[in-house]
Amino acid sequence: MQFEGKPWRTIWLEADGWSVGVIDQTRLPHRFATIRLTALEEMASAIKSMVVRGAPLIGAAAAYGVCLALKADASDAALDRARDALAATRPTAINLRWALAQMAAAVRNRPHRERVAVAYARAQAIADDDVAINAAIGEAGVALIEAAARRKNGARVSLLTHCNAGWLATVDIGTATAPIYTAYDRGIPVHVFVDETRPRNQGAALTAWEVQQHGVPCTVIADNAGGHLMQHGQVDLAIVGADRVTAQGDVCNKIGTYLKALAAHDTGVPFYVALPSPTIDFSMRDGIAEIPIEEREPDEVTHISGMTADGRIETVRIVPKGAAAANYAFDVTPARLVTGLITERGVIAPQAAALAAAFPERVTVERPLSRL
Ligand code: MRU
Repeated sequence: MQFEGKPWRTIWLEADGWSVGVIDQTRLPHRFATIRLTALEEMASAIKSMVVRGAPLIGAAAAYGVCLALKADASDAALDRARDALAATRPTAINLRWALAQMAAAVRNRPHRERVAVAYARAQAIADDDVAINAAIGEAGVALIEAAARRKNGARVSLLTHCNAGWLATVDIGTATAPIYTAYDRGIPVHVFVDETRPRNQGAALTAWEVQQHGVPCTVIADNAGGHLMQHGQVDLAIVGADRVTAQGDVCNKIGTYLKALAAHDTGVPFYVALPSPTIDFSMRDGIAEIPIEEREPDEVTHISGMTADGRIETVRIVPKGAAAANYAFDVTPARLVTGLITERGVIAPQAAALAAAFPERVTVERPLSRL
């Protein structure tokens, strides 16, 4: 990602070689600020409070959280404590548990004196791999946009996306945005309808910000507008991200994704899901029955924050005083509503056999990631 002429990732090792820098996503789009994290507890709190968020990024953040924990204490007990503390931060995105399993496998059988160096190397590889995977997702997905542009005789291709599955949800490039940025960079005229994504407004605050930074034309829409636009032929393709995809291709993503998939199905708009392979949970099949859905604080629903005309950030209540509110953070879109899964190994049918054939090395899960 480029911000003010400088390349950025969402997470990095600071110049001291051990502390971890992140972009504070709770301040965007009004302020670009970074934070330096120096301890396990700080990383756990950054993940929980959504300073960093998005499935692939919280995987990388958890990996660096293990590094910070081991730097303070390289014992088995400290490793277990770090795993438990980080796993408890957010329950739905499987990448977090996947990364914790990767870190434990890398360091567990190493002598204590080697563990810190091994952990930092593995965390760096997880971050680097995420960037490479997302570039490959861009290559796989751009073909869909090119085909749509050909069908439209070169007229602008309009995409719809939900939540933020871009630079900011990953280490760089993004998942759902990767094909869009690739298409734009190749001169294909594209436009993005950005769902605002209540209650945390990751679309309005984060996707709109980064898509603008990249230069791609976009229009923020209220969450409820997508169906109307699809009925009127204004959406050529929907591409969303994922927080967990089951072995049979059910897709768990930010709340509201299912309703967009239903509308897309009804109107014949292709509905694609872009995901890196660590987002696949081969230990689960039925996403609706099995995936744990995070419930967050009701104040994310009852209150809203924004910038006043004179530049102050204010939070206001938008419901009657005392009104009860529920805050389900994710929903599950059954595989039958998904046109295809855009992965680093190509566009795959949302079916068990196709997923297993594309990722044979992931199919045998000795220990279900969800029950780490
Ligand atoms: O709750 P968040 O902001 O961590 O939500 C995760 C997401 O950004 C999305 O669900 C996204 O589409 C998948 S992550 C690329």
